[in-house]
Amino acid sequence: MSSTTPMTPIPLSRKPAGQDLTGPRTACIRTFGCQMNVHDSDRIRRMIQDAGYAEVQRYEDADLVILNTCYVRENAVDRVRGHLGELGRLRREGRVKRVALTGCIGAAQESAALKRTYDIDLVLGTHNTYELAEFVGLPTMRETYTPELPGTEGEHNAFVTIMTGCNYQCSYCIVPTVRGRMICRPMEGVIGEIERLVAGGTEYITLLGQTVDAWRYEGKRFCDLLEAVSQIAPRVWFTTSHPSNMEDRTLRVIGERDTIVERLHLPVQSGSDRMLKVMHRGYKAERYRRKIEVFREAAPDGTLSTDIIVGHPGETEEDHEKTLELVEDCAFDSAYIFKFSPRRGTEAATMPGAVPDAIVQRRFLEVLRQIERNAFQRNQRKVGDVEEIYIRHGSTEDGKAIGETWSGHAVHVRTDAAPGTYVKARIESAGPHVLYAGEPSR
Ligand code: 5AD
Ligand code: SF4
Repeated sequence: MSSTTPMTPIPLSRKPAGQDLTGPRTACIRTFGCQMNVHDSDRIRRMIQDAGYAEVQRYEDADLVILNTCYVRENAVDRVRGHLGELGRLRREGRVKRVALTGCIGAAQESAALKRTYDIDLVLGTHNTYELAEFVGLPTMRETYTPELPGTEGEHNAFVTIMTGCNYQCSYCIVPTVRGRMICRPMEGVIGEIERLVAGGTEYITLLGQTVDAWRYEGKRFCDLLEAVSQIAPRVWFTTSHPSNMEDRTLRVIGERDTIVERLHLPVQSGSDRMLKVMHRGYKAERYRRKIEVFREAAPDGTLSTDIIVGHPGETEEDHEKTLELVEDCAFDSAYIFKFSPRRGTEAATMPGAVPDAIVQRRFLEVLRQIERNAFQRNQRKVGDVEEIYIRHGSTEDGKAIGETWSGHAVHVRTDAAPGTYVKARIESAGPHVLYAGEPSR
């Protein structure tokens, strides 16, 4: 943990009831879902370390298990049920002693039923994660746990949350319910944190937020912040953007500043204006296409990814065709395609016009094939190029590391270079998802 960590370890001031205090205590954190959750887990990790727990990877080695959950993905609750069932068994065998459920499922209605069914000691939402501090025996952190509090960081890359929550009300989405309305961190706080991180050796900064490009603070907009960060950090990326907030200025800055990774993740959800309206997305397909034109012009070599939902209630064959048309026009480099899944408490969960599973499956595959075809073609154009590759994950047993080009392409490269360093190598082949590089020249 770096010296920028704002909380110094605090000695145990009180011991929660029922806790086994003999021997070293161990905790296992399991993270589901998005980068926001990964980031929240970093904060949780810091809390348990401050409370004197050693982190372990397997449930059976843990006194305390924390499931930091996601509610967005398909079958999210079912997956967590599976883990809770397993934990119940380990608990009966006397191995795991306590279980905490945090994150988006914790904030949703389903959590009450889960707590009743399974043996869960503590259920927390996303706004009161600080209560975990008390649970593990730290003084309360209510006062200090605000969005202003930075998270921990890896050795070479750091996620910096610049806003939390979301002011949109997309028909299908549980995020506004569980994460609340948008709160933006002050500019000085963000810049100060990034300056400290960079001074401490962090190479790569990712700005995070559910609608990161909606960030604004005292007259400053996201573009101003991104530009400022790109002057401080050696490498910058941001996610997730919303098309209604994405300014042309921001897209141009991505192309202009050579410290910004030229990768844009801009969820479109559907190519049909009718569906976009039903979903309350706040833009039409044509406006999305125009944004993409600006991006492609600003960063011709850059990569574009999106999220698409197939089978939202009321989606017709014609709507689906429109999505396929948009996919063709935008030639995405990758996409997360989701089959609609009803989330209790969202508007879409009770909408009429459910699409039969078999049709959803076919539409899913049609979108997937089209995305992969485009991505494959675009990736082929990279073959032969010599690229500067940032090593994200060091080599595994097969000797291949996973890196990223400045254009945002994922690359497999045979090197033992450490994460956070750069190598130069020629792209030798390409699949729909990754590029494959030869031996680095340095
Ligand atoms: N069903 C399917 N996909 C969903 N997403 C969010 N909620 C749902 C849902 N109920 C998808 C959206 C979003 C991504 C993070 O998850 O595409 O952009
Ligand atoms: Fe959910 Fe829509 Fe907000 Fe994204 S913009 S987090 S999809 S409500």
